[in-house]
Amino acid sequence: MAVPKSEYLSDSWRDGLFSANACIVGRNVEKTERVAREIASVRSGAKVMGIGAVDVRQFDSLKNAVDRCVAELGGIDYVIAGAAGNFLASIEQLSVNAFKSVMDIDVLGSYNTLKATVPHLVTSGGKHRVDSATNTPSPAGTGGRIIFVSATLHYTGTPFQSHVSVAKAAVDALSNSVAIEYGPLGVTSNIIAPGPIAATEGIERLLPTDIKERYVRMQPLGRLGSVRDIADATVYLFADTGSYVNGQTLVVDGASWRTSVTG
Ligand code: HXC
Repeated sequence: MAVPKSEYLSDSWRDGLFSANACIVGRNVEKTERVAREIASVRSGAKVMGIGAVDVRQFDSLKNAVDRCVAELGGIDYVIAGAAGNFLASIEQLSVNAFKSVMDIDVLGSYNTLKATVPHLVTSGGKHRVDSATNTPSPAGTGGRIIFVSATLHYTGTPFQSHVSVAKAAVDALSNSVAIEYGPLGVTSNIIAPGPIAATEGIERLLPTDIKERYVRMQPLGRLGSVRDIADATVYLFADTGSYVNGQTLVVDGASWRTSVTG
């Protein structure tokens, strides 16, 4: 994935609204470390760790990464649970193992991410603990925040995407449960459901080149989304602006899913 550095983070991040340290976890060592280096290069003063060779399907693998992150950075206040596996395949083409692989990555992976990090979110001392208007501890949102990355595919029926549609429906249900169970402990849980985002592995894999131009023209806003669109939605949910938003889905797709059965 080649994304210009400036696309990763919105102005508000760059300007230091959040100067949080960060830990990026992934299966591919080279990609994970490269992304961590790129983010570090636009966030002066923040520590950014990349921990590769982590399989979200293996709880112990993820837990070890979380322990390393907490040991080096001191805690976890914000989590983005973005585990995703996907490819185009009809129900007939899908093997039982292929279906299970995507369920394991998306559903079990999201659950494992939650399970490994939520104790830290409960005890979080994140910036949002303080109401910036009054400079006093905020009664709502005293703990950390988690965002699950979902999709819009399951809002309609999407051909060749049954596996990921089922998986993301389950991720949505998980986030809703977290919002209710952990809300009283001050932890908020929300979903970002991206539409087609340019220059991402997902869109490169899923959008056949021969229909790309027509697909873009069909979009209500006449363009694909950008990485920055998703970064800005993340900032909204993690910053003070999102302190009373819990158990919601923020669809960032330019109304794409409303126009087409292909999501
Ligand atoms: C059919 C496939 C397949 C394909 C793999 N399989 N690719 N079946 N079509 N293209 C089958 C394999 O044959 C095997 O089944 C089973 O899936 C497991 O494959 P493995 O390669 O052994 O597993 P694993 O290494 O765990 O990889 C699973 C993977 C993963 C899901 C393919 O590598 C992956 O997701 N990579 C892509 C990551 C990615 O693009 N993420 C972004 C998603 S974006 P058998 O029966 O042979 O054992 C996204 C956004 C959607 O989801 C919204 C867009 C608008």
